[in-house]
Amino acid sequence: MADPTGFPLKDKAAHDTTEHYERYSAPLMAPFVTAVIEAANLFPGAQVLDLACGTGFVARAAAAQVGPTGHVAAVDLLEDMLRTAARHAPRMYPDIEFTLASADKLPYPDGSFDAVVCQQGLQLFPDLEAALTEAARVTRPGGRFAATAWTPPADRSPYFAAQLKAVTDHGTPEAEARFAASLSCPADRLTAALTAAGFHDITTREVTFAIAFQDFADFAAGHLAAVPWGQSIEETGGPARFTEAAETIRGALAPHTAPDGSATLSFTSTLATATR
Ligand SMILES: C[S@@+](CC[C@H](N)C(=O)[O-])C[C@H]1O[C@@H](n2cnc3c(N)ncnc32)[C@H](O)[C@@H]1O
Repeated sequence: MADPTGFPLKDKAAHDTTEHYERYSAPLMAPFVTAVIEAANLFPGAQVLDLACGTGFVARAAAAQVGPTGHVAAVDLLEDMLRTAARHAPRMYPDIEFTLASADKLPYPDGSFDAVVCQQGLQLFPDLEAALTEAARVTRPGGRFAATAWTPPADRSPYFAAQLKAVTDHGTPEAEARFAASLSCPADRLTAALTAAGFHDITTREVTFAIAFQDFADFAAGHLAAVPWGQSIEETGGPARFTEAAETIRGALAPHTAPDGSATLSFTSTLATATR
């Protein structure tokens, strides 16, 4: 049966995996969060939806922008993600409203939001057009859409090329499929789906950031444990196979790693914007 999330991350004990996701994805996501928030043209008092919010990086940044008179709603299909998101939402913002919902069936009336944002979620939706049609429905006329999706192929970002090698060398076809889904949305596919959904003034551009990891070996293992293809390697091959996979990533990026264990790597994402 087709998986409804495309990112089936499971907590093994209370919150452990999604806490790992929050911790190890944070450096990777941070500059792209800023880019997607800037592209969404948020303003104090705005009503915002974070689609496929995960542990809430974009929702938290949006809440800071819209301030006490605004409102941020955030949906995801994984309860574990939402539980961790709620625990990380600081009370200094107006409350972010986290809701369990599928991107293609949003529990909001037409025209509810000034902006819909989505970070690294579009490529995972089983029906991208249906999800974007829902996003368009809940956006007010003239409202804004902004999203990022990692730019394929994997070697556009050296870290993902190394993960691909680890998955190919140590994973099953399931792990390979999980990994491939994360890099499955080139700009032309995004543009076509946004057009079909009824958005206009569509733009796509690549954004590249150099991201520094102080302890790259720790990051490589920690992040692999917090993505579905890493979980799949561990489930099918056990801890030893997982360690080999993390070691493959570290080895592949040894030329980028300094003697003190730090590494600075470039990541490229497609940033799509549109108006309703
Ligand atoms: C790579 S994570 C990105 C999470 C978050 N936006 C971030 O910036 O870290 C992808 C998220 O998409 C969610 N997701 C996948 N398919 C979904 C769907 N059909 N509807 C809602 N959320 C979905 C997953 O549960 C996961 O939390």
